[in-house]
Amino acid sequence: MSAITADAQMGSVSDARQGVYEDKVIRQFSVMAVVWGVVGMLVGVVIAAQMLWPALNLGQFGLEWFSFGRLRPLHTNAVIFAFGGCVLFATSYYVVQRTCQTKLFLPQLAAFTFWGWQLVIVLAAITLPLGLTSGQEYAELIWPIDILITAVWVSYAIVFFGTLATRKINHIYVANWFFGAFILAVALLHVVNSLAVPTGLLHAYSLYSGVQSAMIQWWYGHNAVGFFLTAGFLGIMYYFIPKQAERPIYSYRLSIVHFWALIFTYMWAGPHHLHYTALPDWTQSIGMVFSLILLAPSWGGMINGIMTLSGAWHKLRDDPILRFLIVSLSFYGMSTFEGPMMSIKTVNALSHYTDWTIGHVHSGALGWVGLISMGALYFLIPRLFGRKQMYSINAIELHFWIACIGIVIYIASMWIAGVTQGLMWRALADDGTLAFTFSESVRASYPFYAIRLIGGTMYFAGMCIMAWNVWMTVRAGLRAGPVPQIKIPAVSPAHA
Ligand code: HEM
Ligand code: HEM
Repeated sequence: MSAITADAQMGSVSDARQGVYEDKVIRQFSVMAVVWGVVGMLVGVVIAAQMLWPALNLGQFGLEWFSFGRLRPLHTNAVIFAFGGCVLFATSYYVVQRTCQTKLFLPQLAAFTFWGWQLVIVLAAITLPLGLTSGQEYAELIWPIDILITAVWVSYAIVFFGTLATRKINHIYVANWFFGAFILAVALLHVVNSLAVPTGLLHAYSLYSGVQSAMIQWWYGHNAVGFFLTAGFLGIMYYFIPKQAERPIYSYRLSIVHFWALIFTYMWAGPHHLHYTALPDWTQSIGMVFSLILLAPSWGGMINGIMTLSGAWHKLRDDPILRFLIVSLSFYGMSTFEGPMMSIKTVNALSHYTDWTIGHVHSGALGWVGLISMGALYFLIPRLFGRKQMYSINAIELHFWIACIGIVIYIASMWIAGVTQGLMWRALADDGTLAFTFSESVRASYPFYAIRLIGGTMYFAGMCIMAWNVWMTVRAGLRAGPVPQIKIPAVSPAHA
C-alpha cells in the first residue's frame, strides 16, 4: 500500500457513512491518565526527596509504609501501568476505531476494561505501601491482583481484535500492528512471569527459582520496556504524528520493516540485565548482541517519525503539541542509542548498579513515554470533549519548556552521579585495596540527588499545569452541553 493510501485511511474514507464512535471509555481513560500522571510523578518527587533527605522516610515515627522501599514500587507501578496504561488504552481505542472506520467491538467489555484497570490501580496503591508484594520488579502485585489484570487484559484483547475483525476497510493501518503486538506480548509476559503457587490470599511462591527465575524476570522486565513502554507508544507515534503534522507518514514500507525487526529483536535482549551474574556467559553474550542489533530498528522507527515532518518543519515553531511528539522521538533515539551501549559488557561493568541506569530509564520514561503521551493527550482531550483546542495554548508552551528543561537536569545529574559511582567503586589504591568506601561514593552523589530533585520537580510542575489545562478544557466542554457525537468523517484530502 502506498503512503498516500495508508494515510488516507487514517481518518478519511471515501464513503460518507454517518455513524458514531464509542468515545466515552476513551474520555474516561484520557482523564484518568492525567490524574495518575500527577499522582505517580508526585510519588517520584517524594522518593527523589527521600534519597536526598533520608529523614523523610519517617522511620522515626514508625511509618514504614511511607519508606522508600514501599513507595518506589508505587512510583514505578503508577507511572508505567496507571499513567502509561491509561494512555495506551485511550489511544488504542481511539486509533483502532478511526483507522478501521468502525465502532468498538463489545462496548460493555470496553467499559469493564476501564473499571477493572482502575480497580487494579487502586488495589496496587493499597497493597504496595502495606508491603504486600511478590518481590518481582515491575510485577510486584500479589497473585489475586494478577488474576484481575489477566481478566482485564483478555477483555482488552477481545475488544481490540474484535474491532479489527469487524473493520470496514481491508487494510490494517500500521499503528494497529504495534498496538496489537503490544497487547499480545504483554498478555504472554504477564501470564508466564506471574505463574505461582499460592500459599494464602496474600502470598504465593513463584514457579521459578534460581537462575531460571532471574532469566524469566528479565525476559519479562526487558520486554515490559519493549512492548509496554515502546511498541504501544510507537503505535501512538504512527497515528498522532502524521495527524498533527498533517503529513503522510514518511515511509510506509519502512514502518513494516520497523515493526517486524523490532518485535523479533526485543524478545532476545533481556539477559543484558544480568551481565556478570550466575547466568551462563553465552546467554549474556546473546543478550548483548541482540541489544546492539536493536539499535537499527529503533532508529529506523525514530527516523520514520521525525522525517514525517519533512517539508513541514516550520510547524514545529508554532505548534507545541507537535513539538511534544517530535521531541519525544529525539529522546527515544537517545535512549535507544544509550541502551545498546550499556548492554556492552565492558560498559555495563561500569554502569550496572549505578545511577547511570536511573538516568537511562528516565531519558526513556520522561523523554519518550512522557512527552509522547502528553502530546497525544493534548491532541485527544479537546476532540473528545467537543472543543476546538485546549483551553490555553500558552500553558502547553510553558509545559513543554518546563518539562524539557526538567528532563535534561534529571538525566544529566544521574549520568554524572552514575559514572562517578562506577569509577569510585572500581578505583584501587597503590596497595591494591579499594580507594573509596561505599559511603564515600554515596556522599559524592548527594549534590546530584539535589539537582535531580529540581529536575523532577520541574517535570512534575509541568504535569500539574497540564492537569489544570485539561480540567479547564473539560469543564468548558461539559458546560457547552453534551459532547457532540463525532461523525465518521467524510472524504478529506489531508487528514480529517
Ligand atoms: C516527576 C517525575 C519523576 C521523578 C521525580 C522520578 C523519580 C524517580 C526516583 C527517585 C526513582 C528511584 C531511583 C533509585 O532507585 O535510585 C525512580 C525510579 C523509576 N522511575 Fe521515576 N520519576 C519520575 C517520573 C517517571 C516516569 C514518568 C516514569 C515512566 C514512565 C518513571 C519510571 C521509573 C522507573 C521504571 C524506575 C525504576 C528504575 C530502575 O529500577 O532502574 N519515572 N524514579
Ligand atoms: C534499544 C533499546 C534499549 C536497550 C538495548 C536498552 C538496554 C538497557 C540496559 C543495558 C540497561 C541496564 C541493565 C543493567 O545494567 O541493569 C537498561 C535498563 C533499563 N532500561 Fe533500557 N534499553 C533500551 C531502551 C529503553 C527505553 C526506550 C526505555 C524506556 C522507555 C528503557 C527502560 C529501561 C529501564 C526501566 C531499565 C532499568 C531496569 C531495572 O534495572 O529496573 N530502555 N536498558
